[in-house]
Amino acid sequence: MLKSRGIDVLDLTVSNPTRVGLEYPHDFLRALASPDALEYDPAALGAPRAREAVSRDFARRSHSIPPEHIALTASTSEAYSLLFKLLCDPGDGVLVPQPSYPLFEHLTVLESVEARPYRLEYHGTWRIDIDHLRAQVHSRTKALLIVSPNNPTGSRLHRDDLVAVAELCASRDMLLIGDEVFSDFPLDFAPHAASVLSGRDALVCSLGGLSKSVGLPQVKVGWIGFAGPADRLDALLRAYEVIADTYLSVSTPAQTALPDLLDRGAAVRTQIQHRVTGNLRALRAAVARTPSVTVLTVEGGWSAVLQVPAYRSEEALVLELLMEDHVLVHPGFFFDFEREAFLIVSLLAEPTQFARGIARLLARASQGSAAS
Ligand SMILES: Cc1ncc(COP(=O)(O)O)c(C=O)c1O
Repeated sequence: MLKSRGIDVLDLTVSNPTRVGLEYPHDFLRALASPDALEYDPAALGAPRAREAVSRDFARRSHSIPPEHIALTASTSEAYSLLFKLLCDPGDGVLVPQPSYPLFEHLTVLESVEARPYRLEYHGTWRIDIDHLRAQVHSRTKALLIVSPNNPTGSRLHRDDLVAVAELCASRDMLLIGDEVFSDFPLDFAPHAASVLSGRDALVCSLGGLSKSVGLPQVKVGWIGFAGPADRLDALLRAYEVIADTYLSVSTPAQTALPDLLDRGAAVRTQIQHRVTGNLRALRAAVARTPSVTVLTVEGGWSAVLQVPAYRSEEALVLELLMEDHVLVHPGFFFDFEREAFLIVSLLAEPTQFARGIARLLARASQGSAAS
């Protein structure tokens, strides 16, 4: 529970898995103290045993990425920065989804790269507006970012959209970057979902990391799995290696521990999956009694989007919820939703607090509605 000015606040924005009452395996971090980590043997893309473990983790999700095509990073955020350094000169651009995760704005500015938004549209499920996306490409566009499942829409890349974006990337020599950090957490049935790694002819990479897949953001390990036409892939990896070698940012203890953390982390992953599934079910049950509020389809991830009556602005509603009801949620405009009124709630929250927060939210959001 968050405390603000001595008042307990139900935090429905929480995205830190270490603060939501999950049970981590006893001694989970023991491998970080392995004596094997005393010897420093730098490797630009990461230690071979660590990269083999990530390759097995891709195989667990039915992707065949050999260790030689995997690079370790200190986080997914760092992976973005390294990729932008690799692909872009100052002033070059990358395409980013909208709505999505606000960190892209900072990550691109810090690399002097232009973030050009492309639209996601909701028609019962979220799809890429492919015409808008094509119109956003220009001669200095170097990469297309897909977040699947997306934060916060929970949408997964549709197989038909993948065909279109892979063709576009191949024809315009852009890297197709898939942020797949939430891919371990499927929610609503999405038989059409595809990974960027199935994109044909394009150079692609898939980002992942310990922070979501086993709930360990503090260990600071992420990875990039590359795939695509062999000659272009080799050239890309050689250039990437020079950049990674300049930083060597992943600590030896973290790399040494990675195989063990990935193996034993399955227990945490299962708990997170139960948590987000249970909270989504509870949310739907509560919303069923409040006809003026809708939960949008959530195909995966750790958050849900509620469409609420727009009698007052998102900002006014979020402030009322905080000041009057002591519930903290994010407004849609934080994530660049095109219109109002949407609220975003984290499905990771402790279930009792989640249920209490949702009850207060629904009472407040539906006030003044004919249906309430
Ligand atoms: C879609 C998405 N990508 C990447 C990240 C960052 O992950 P990391 O902790 O590996 O930097 C987040 C964090 O919330 C996220 O939501």
